[in-house]
Parts: sequence; structure tokens; C-alpha cells
Amino acid sequence: ETIRLEDYRPTDFVLERVDLTFELDPAETKVEARLIFHRREGVDSAAPLVLDGDELTLTALHLDQNELDAAHYEATDEQLVIRGLPESAPFEIMIGTVIAPESNTTLMGLYRTSNVYCTQCEAEGFRRITYFPDRPDVLAPYTVTIVADKAANPLLLSNGNFLGGGNYDGTRHFAAWFDPHPKPSYLFALVAGDLGVVEDSFTTASGREVALKIYVEHGKEPRAAYAMDALKRSMRWDEERFGREYDLDIFMIVAVSDFNMGAMENKGLNVFNDKYVLADPETATDQDYANIEAIIAHEYFHNWTGNRITCRDWFQLCLKEGLTVYRDHEFSADERSRPVKRVAEVRHLKAEQFPEDGGPLAHPVRPTRYREINNFYTTTVYEKGSEVTGMIATLLGREGFKAGMDLYFERHDGQAVTIEDFVRCFAETSGRDLTQFSLWYHQAGTPLVTASSAYDAARQSLTLTLEQMVPPTPGQSEKAPMHIPLRFALILPDGTVATPSEGTGTDVTGEVLHLTERQQSVTFTGLPARPIVSLNRGFSAPINLHLQQSAEDKALIARFDPDLFARWQALTDLALADLVAATAAVKGGTTHTISPLVVEALLSAVGDDALEPAFRAQILALPSESDIAREIGKSNDPDAIWTARLGVLRAIAEAGRPAFEKLVAEMAADGPFSPDAASAGRRALRNIALTYLAHAEQSPLRAKAAFDAADNMTDRAHALALLAHVFPDAGETLVALQAFRTRFADNPLVLDKWFSIQAAAPGHGALERIKALMGDPSFNPLNPNRVRALVGAFAFGNPTGFNRPDGESYRFLADQVLEIDRRNPQLAARLLTAMRSWRSLEEGRAAAAQAALARIKEAPGLSADVSDIVERTLKG
Ligand code: ARG
Ligand code: ZN
Repeated sequence: ETIRLEDYRPTDFVLERVDLTFELDPAETKVEARLIFHRREGVDSAAPLVLDGDELTLTALHLDQNELDAAHYEATDEQLVIRGLPESAPFEIMIGTVIAPESNTTLMGLYRTSNVYCTQCEAEGFRRITYFPDRPDVLAPYTVTIVADKAANPLLLSNGNFLGGGNYDGTRHFAAWFDPHPKPSYLFALVAGDLGVVEDSFTTASGREVALKIYVEHGKEPRAAYAMDALKRSMRWDEERFGREYDLDIFMIVAVSDFNMGAMENKGLNVFNDKYVLADPETATDQDYANIEAIIAHEYFHNWTGNRITCRDWFQLCLKEGLTVYRDHEFSADERSRPVKRVAEVRHLKAEQFPEDGGPLAHPVRPTRYREINNFYTTTVYEKGSEVTGMIATLLGREGFKAGMDLYFERHDGQAVTIEDFVRCFAETSGRDLTQFSLWYHQAGTPLVTASSAYDAARQSLTLTLEQMVPPTPGQSEKAPMHIPLRFALILPDGTVATPSEGTGTDVTGEVLHLTERQQSVTFTGLPARPIVSLNRGFSAPINLHLQQSAEDKALIARFDPDLFARWQALTDLALADLVAATAAVKGGTTHTISPLVVEALLSAVGDDALEPAFRAQILALPSESDIAREIGKSNDPDAIWTARLGVLRAIAEAGRPAFEKLVAEMAADGPFSPDAASAGRRALRNIALTYLAHAEQSPLRAKAAFDAADNMTDRAHALALLAHVFPDAGETLVALQAFRTRFADNPLVLDKWFSIQAAAPGHGALERIKALMGDPSFNPLNPNRVRALVGAFAFGNPTGFNRPDGESYRFLADQVLEIDRRNPQLAARLLTAMRSWRSLEEGRAAAAQAALARIKEAPGLSADVSDIVERTLKG
């Protein structure tokens, strides 16, 4: 069944209050919901109340304290329809349901994880708890009473402020919570069990004292210290940057080990995948620390962008997600290094969102239809949504953006709104017409901008000619031209930035060129020497850019552009062109010699002490195999790409050997371990230098020595991956894998790394290794993190292994998807998206992938999640 944006209408009944009572039991939890409604003005007096359900059993139904007789309602496991309700007076409906958390393997609604009761309600999980108008535009204050066995569940948590509690009967106790802020059901949460806690407090700008609590498994409390620190920094930052204060007496985070996603922003009670809470130097990498900081911030920032102001319907998901990702990006950029953060964001966007936008699952940032909303928690909604928010900031400037946000918070606090409402705030405060700009929300596909420049020495002018094309995507064959804000600079041969007289023929404001037509040209005058065009600096627009520019000019940008992102982009473009040529050579059976200019540009940037180590490490991380595949675009042969990339890597390794030796020495730890960004940058640069040296030496010894010497997880995991990926058959590798496993046998999050590293080891033998690892006693097919660590890391992160030419890995993934789908449809559907780029593979592989997809499609009893993904992937 397809849900359409244009069918939106408000509910017939207004929900005033919610009062829930839970009697928790693993097999038989009793839920009593008391809901106060009144009929919305103007609604027909015969209209029934229609509530959503999902796998529910009704045990009681009362209207204003009286049992309803069967003639007045109809209950199925998916819906409760009640007729004959009062015309305008408020009334109370009491609904009794019984649910079984222990057998809930979907991890939606109320479920059990490691003996803890926990909920996940976004998007439509609340209807698995009780019958309810389970949609984001129904907001009400909630009172929640939890009754449970006291010994097993000393902790009873829900949203809002704690009201009180005490003994209930012989073995049970209770606790009551009240959340005064009206909220939609997707923000409801309940947690009960026996957990350890880390406590702190925060005083808001206006003097409110907030208790902060992070709940983790007993014994893991020390590993929550970094998360707590990140939380306090997030709270301060949102006050200083956006004027947003926290609004309850308590803010709680609970870390659980079985969770379908990263984390969830339930009001006052965030629930986290423990992967994004727990960290210490011994067990977490620098990337883990950075992720924890970003996700703690993300969920906290949702308190205003998501909770206080929420979505009218799920089509508006990017209203809260794109905006909140933008906010967490800004936070990390402020807390760490802005250019390094930007490079990481763009790498991620290109690796994840560009393939989505260019494949069968492409959809607009603000979609207009869906079959299964779970499948729209995508990188397009999140990351492209963030980019679109960032473009508004580029158009309006920092102050202009802040003014629009202020109006948004003031005007819409307490409401469930749309993207149009959001954009209107910026249009009004800035006086700009954002109509064309809004196409970024509505048109799917990554725009392609082609640009070239011509210098006229006699006129001392430079003309830049631009053209845009938005490719067709499913359901959208024709596209209108977009408003593409391109940050630019004209760089003179001596490395300075030219300040031309105003460009003509188009709209240039300051450093931004506004491309609004299909074709457009702009002439800059007052240029005595030919400048080099640096375009889309800072990745101001999420586009593919084909700029006709010589390698020499790119090398100059790489050397001189004051915008560090633009330098990284220029180096990446140079390397990518070489990697594409190398791939063609492998396929054509000819030899490829890496361009000396590319080697020289890379090595001189890497040796530049004025650049921070983290940035230099990003330069050395060559475009990935999938980056190369995307650049080639069609008939991809992952084996040829892998071989070509290895050749280029080795050539750079040979040429840069002394430089890499020097870096390894210079970047050695200069004190005790610290997870801060600068120290992490030194580790990153040292580790990537080690990678090149290992390639130059063709020996596992250096990696093994690094593994043995490591005193933190970043270095240890890096060395292990180097061994496993470059020297898979070396004795050193087997020893290291075994040692790692033994040492961390009791730590599931570290064991996940052990699985992932092996899953990503390249080559056609990967599948056999994966199958063997699935037989490992610690492989638990019910734990999403473990499944993603093995099957996910293989399907998404091992191009040669996953795309082996006989198609065997596709058949394996299909089997896994079908198997997992019976328990956890969301997890299955997510894994299946690994097949989304099948059409860009060479014929043989594409045919095998198509056959595997077709088999899934025909399988009986598919979930809505998997059937939606498989059908769209095949149709494309
Ligand atoms: N709102 C959560 C977040 O971004 C994610 C929820 C994902 N839900 C889902 N059904 N996939 O922080
Ligand atoms: Zn979010």
C-alpha cells in the first residue's frame, strides 16, 4: 500500500492527554492506555475514531469508565475502530493490550535486550504497544506508570520528570513519570532493568539545574565518561550557537546492545546503540570517539529540532533529520577541525549518498510517497538533507541563517510542521525568494555541473561557462534547473587570490556564484594574469562537477588555495583521474605509469608541516574502490579496479618511502593517550604512512611490530587490518588475529571489529571466510551489530569479495536477507541495499545480481521492508 503526501489530512479527533500503565513481564506485559480525546471542530458527528495497531491483542476497551459493547467497535491486530463517540465533549478511552517483549525480535515497540526492557517507537513502533493515533502530528503530554519485579528491574524509566514511586505488592515496585511537553508517540520511551549509572549535572544558561544520567551495563560505567563529556559540551554549544536550552529536570541516556540503528532521541530519555556510548583507549578507536561525540550531540540537538518542533507527517522526515545532522556537523566542526570534518563529511556523502541518488533507490530529500517508512531513514534524507540546510546557510550567511532559525523556533515551537514552513522562515527573514532553491527538496538525483573557463589576455577578462543537468530518477524523468550555490575563487599563478571587478551576466554575491539557469556564463574583468578557477569550494553544493581544467592548474589549487577543502578536492581529482586511467590499463592489458605530477602533488602536501596531520592523512587516503567505480560509472569490474588501485598505491609508496619513514618517526605518540582531535590526527597520519611503507616493503613485519607495540585500539585495529588485508596468508596475520580475539573475547564491541576486519579482506576467497566466521561461537545472528559487522562489512565494504564473478556472494546475501527478514525486517532491508548499484556492474555480475534479487522478490512471506527495497532495486 502506497502512502501519498497529497493525501495528508489532520486526524478527526484531537488527543488531549495520555496516561499509560505498564505491568512488565517478559512474556505477558499488560498495557493500559487512557486517552482523552475530543472531536475536532467541523468533523462529522458520525466519524469513528480510528487507531493504529500492529500485532496487538485487545483485552479491554472502555469509554468513560464503561465497558464498550461489541457493536461499538471493531478490533483487528492492525486497527481499532470505535463508533458512536460524543459529538464535541471530551471523552476517555481505556484500552487494554497484552504484549510479549521477549518474543519481539523486530526490535520495534517494546522488546528485551540483555534482560533489559527497552522501546524503539520511531517511526511506527508505538502501535506495537497499544492502539493509538500513531502519527507524528498527534501531540500530547504523557503520564507513565511502570510496575515491575523489583529485584530484576530496580530501574524504571520513562520520558519527562520523575513523579514518584514505591512498593507495589510483595515483589513488585512502581515508578511514575510525567512529560509536560506535548509529544508524538514516536518519542515515547520506556526502559526497565538493572543497569549501572554515570551521573553528572548541567546548569543551563538561565540557571536550571539538570541531572544527567547515562545508564550502561554494570561494570561498564568508566567507559561512559567520554559520552558524558560530549553531552555537556553539546548542551553548552546549543545554548551558545543557537540559543537553545534544555527544558526538563533530567536528561537520560541508556545504552543497549541490541538496537537497529545508531540512537533515538526520545524526549528526555535517549536510547543508544552501546557502540555509540562506550569508549576507552583500550577498546575504542579515534573514529569511535568521533562517532560518539557526533551522535550524542545529534540526539541531544533533536530536543529542539525534532522534539519541540516535530514533523507533520513522515514525508517531512528531513525537517528534523537533515537539520539535526547539519547541527551535529557544525558542532563537530567547532569542536574539532573544520576542514578535516568537511573532508570527512564529503567523503561519506559521496560514498553513501551519491550511489543512492544515482541508483534505483533514488528519492527526493522530501519524498512524496512511500510504502514502508523505515526504508526512508536514508542517507539522502539525512546527509543530503544536511547539505541542503548548509546551502541555505551559504545563501544567507551565518547571521542570516541564525535569524531564520530564530524565527523557526519562535514560530513553530510545540508544532508539527512541514519543510515549506521551515523554508518560509528563511525566506521571510532574508527577503529572498527561495522557490527555485526548494527544488533541492523535491528533485532527486545528483546534479551534474560542467564548467570551463576562457581567459582573454587583451581584455584581461575570464569567462566561466557553466551548464547543469539533473539526471532522471525513478518517478522523475524531467527536471527543472536548480539554484546551485557555488563558492569560488580565482587563484593567480603566484598563489594569491584575485579580486576581479564584479562579474557580469549572472548573479555573483561575494564568494558565491549562483548557477540558476541550465546554461550560464559569467565574465570577470580586471585580471592582468590568467587566474585558475577554484569552484565549489568547501563543497558548497552536493553536485558532481566536471571542470575542464589541466592537471597543472589543479596542482596549483592543491598548493595554494586558502580553502583547505578545495586543496583536498583538487588532489583527490588528480588521484582519481590517475586511478581511472590505471583501471583502463588493467582492463586493456597495458601498463600504467602513475603521473609524476600526481605523485609530486600528493607528497608535497603530505610533507607540508603547515598542514595539520589529520588533513594530511585525508590526502593520503586515496579514493576508495567504490569512488573509482562511481567515477567510471558503468560496466564496472571490481577486480580490475582493485588491481589498478593497488598498483597506484605501491607506486606512491615507492616514491614516498623516505617521506613515510619520516612521518612514522615524527608522528609517534608524544605523551599518554588522549582522544582529542589533534592526537587522533597524529595517529591517523602515522598509521597511513605505515600502510604505505608496508606496501613498499611487501612485508608484514612492520605491521606486526605496530600491532605488538600498540597501546590503544586505533593503532591496534589499524595494524590488524593492514595485516589481514595486505598479508592475509602470513603467519604473522594469523597470530595477530588470534591474539586480538583472545584478548577481547569478553568485549562484544571489540569482537565486532575482529569480524569486520576479516569481512573486508579482499579477494574471491572472502565468502568462504565469511561462512566460516558465521559458524564461530560468538557469531550471534540476532544481534544487529554483529550481523552488520560481518555480513554488512562484507556486502558494503568488500568490493572484490562481494562482487566475485560467479555471483556466489549475491546468492549468499539473498539467503541471509531472507533468513533475517523472518525476525528483523529492518535489518534485512538495510543489508539488501548493498545491491543498489548492481546495474553499474559489468554484464556477468549484473546478471547474477539481478537473479539473486529476483529470487528474493519471489520468496513467500516477505516483510513490507524487504519487498519494497527489492522491488525498487529491480525496477530502477
Ligand atoms: N531518529 C533517529 C535518529 O536519527 C533514528 C531513528 C531511525 N528509525 C528507523 N525506523 N530507522 O537519531
Ligand atoms: Zn536524527
